[in-house]
Amino acid sequence: MLLVFDAYGTLLDVDAAARQAATEPGMESLQKNWLTISQGWRDRQLRYSWLCSMMGKYDDFWQLTTLALDATLEEHGLSSDQKIRERLLSLYIELKAYEEVPKVLTNLKASGHKLAVLSNASPRMLKTAIKASGIAKYFIELLSVDVLKCYKPTLSVYRLVTEKFNCAPIDVTFFSSNNWDVAGASVFGFRTIWINRVGVSWEKLPGKPDHIVKSISEASNLIGIGIK
Ligand code: LAC
Repeated sequence: MLLVFDAYGTLLDVDAAARQAATEPGMESLQKNWLTISQGWRDRQLRYSWLCSMMGKYDDFWQLTTLALDATLEEHGLSSDQKIRERLLSLYIELKAYEEVPKVLTNLKASGHKLAVLSNASPRMLKTAIKASGIAKYFIELLSVDVLKCYKPTLSVYRLVTEKFNCAPIDVTFFSSNNWDVAGASVFGFRTIWINRVGVSWEKLPGKPDHIVKSISEASNLIGIGIK
């Protein structure tokens, strides 16, 4: 089976950078509200990607990540703290995977499945983070939207997978923790698994998840029994 994963928020823990920085000396101003800052940063990063796509104005995902951080630090009165900015960016470029991820990928690969990533991240950003988190060896392809200069959930992005693997959308099982990404992938015709770690309701978007699970481990159990 061809199993394709979103990267940020699905394999890579988008809160790991702020969580780690908040424990370090000199980062006291992050201690109280690291999670609010992290979530604001992530929300902006995504919002910027959608708005830029709509405008046909492409800056790569690392540029957007940096701009989103700058706006978020400004909102929290921290824009003059270059040390925080630099530390958060250096942790983000080597973001950690969720704890369950390496074991699940090991099992899926050992069962003979083909694994790939489809991400908004620029090739350098994606390669660096996937390598640093120790999971590069599981994937046969790291596909980036960068060749198309627009972001998910633009439907043509999902076609990168079917073109690369010369397959039909229905042959692809797509994993994402991002509801809007699941929506796009589903409209394109992928089978979809929504990793709903925080247990929120499905948004009233087009498309739908074929399966909803709380973790990637739970999703891998589904694969084990075969998805129809
Ligand atoms: C990605 C974004 C959605 O990895 O997090 O594509």
